[in-house]
Amino acid sequence: MSAPPIAAPLWLLAELTYRCPLHCAFCYNPVDYAHHRTELSTAQWVDVMRQARRLGAAQLGFSGGEPLLRDDLEELIGEGRRLGFYTNLITSGIGLTEPRIARMKELGLDHIQLSFQDSTREMNDFLSSTKTFDLKSRVARLIKQYDYPMVLNVVLHRYNLDHVDRIIDMALAMGVEYLELANTQYYGWGMVNRAQLIPTREQLQRAEAVVNEYRARIGSRVRILFVVPDYFEERPKACMNGWGSVFLGISPDGTALPCHAARTLPGVAFPNVRDYSVEEIWYASGAFNRYRGDAWMKSPCSTCPEKHRDFGGCRCQAYALTGDAANADPVCAHSPQHAAVQAIVMDSPFRSTGQPIIFRTDANSRRLVPG
Ligand code: FES
Repeated sequence: MSAPPIAAPLWLLAELTYRCPLHCAFCYNPVDYAHHRTELSTAQWVDVMRQARRLGAAQLGFSGGEPLLRDDLEELIGEGRRLGFYTNLITSGIGLTEPRIARMKELGLDHIQLSFQDSTREMNDFLSSTKTFDLKSRVARLIKQYDYPMVLNVVLHRYNLDHVDRIIDMALAMGVEYLELANTQYYGWGMVNRAQLIPTREQLQRAEAVVNEYRARIGSRVRILFVVPDYFEERPKACMNGWGSVFLGISPDGTALPCHAARTLPGVAFPNVRDYSVEEIWYASGAFNRYRGDAWMKSPCSTCPEKHRDFGGCRCQAYALTGDAANADPVCAHSPQHAAVQAIVMDSPFRSTGQPIIFRTDANSRRLVPG
């Protein structure tokens, strides 16, 4: 039987830079980011966007690090819109001044997703290791003033799950239309700090009950998404909707990645847009074909009736927790390594929050991954 044809990428994520004014303990950027300083030029990004659009990509996200640190962000947004992309800025808000947001509006930027760390200045500033709460609050007002839908993202973990009511109150006071309460996923710096960030099951259940009370009270006026950490589930997430299926990420130096965390996988040569066309990368590269479809699957995924729904889960998580990216994601109850994930969850109430958090800094990056 021949393999089904490969669909075009739908979502191009331009990670413009790893530089960031914040130092979040759960940042999904690679732990060794300090060793990846090179950034594509404006002309190279424009070329990538043109190629991806020609292939069929429809949505273009600008992220980082902090994309506002690129002076050419407005130029890239303008080009993205001219090419017909739906454009999305994923930002901490730091650096989003009124002249910049006004220009972005003029250029047609479609959507801004703003992140907060918590509902109070103290916790927000502690978790990002910066003094940014007031700046972010000002940016939230600018987003409303310029008539963007207010889309707020707050990453949850054991330090802030118990204030989920105050986080929702803050979001409502800001006039949000959409609140994404995303529990920490254990990749990058989140994995470094997993022991400190992982909540207890009771904390999660309490927080989810609070979210449901708010949902019942406010109705459809505000959509609240609550994403449970997959360690607490019995089935894995359909990571990236399948490897090489819809998502094309380009990291600051031009390395093309099928997901945010793929750089952690050993023995995979990820192609760079400086050496290959986007078309070659998407359709023909070994990296993008490696876990595409189901031919790579081993038992129990290969014979699982759910394999076309969850694609065996997350390759990066399978590697991080079992040492083999082709194993079933051990979050799945069918995985022979599932007990290891359960042990991490069972252990969570005994974790001491007194352990120091390792913040994302250049010095910590170099210390954890010497060059
Ligand atoms: Fe890489 Fe899930 S993050 S496949």
